Amino acid sequence: MKLPHLVAALCLAVTAGGVAAQDPNLARNLAATCANCHGTDGKAAAGAGMEALAGADKEKLLQKIREFKSGVRPATIMQQIAKGYTDAQLELIASYFAAQR
Ligand code: HEC
Repeated sequence: MKLPHLVAALCLAVTAGGVAAQDPNLARNLAATCANCHGTDGKAAAGAGMEALAGADKEKLLQKIREFKSGVRPATIMQQIAKGYTDAQLELIASYFAAQR
């Protein structure tokens, strides 16, 4: 491999790895998967009968979601939904909603 090619390949490898590791929008994008039911940025539509997630205490939010995931908290749909995320992703999601005002 010629030197310029090697340099280009290394640059690509570094960029690809970095994007996955530090996507600044990752928490927002994960939280957006909750928007259909809980409202944009966790701000539930008035009268929708849905708890607002925005501005909730992070630890309380995380505890509820973990209980959905483990199955100890009764739910119609949240148990299945919570199981679709890793603990690290749920942590990011809870942080994002807790930071919304
Ligand atoms: C398909 C609709 C739907 C989606 C999508 C959804 N939820 Fe829910 N969520 C519900 C429903 C319905 C409840 C009430 C519990 C139940 O019946 O499952 C609920 C309850 C909750 C509660 C408990 C609220 C409280 O204070 O009692 C939390 C926390 C929660 N959801 C977080 C999330 C998060 C985080 C996401 C995204 C990862 C999400 N939900 C995605 C429908 C949804």
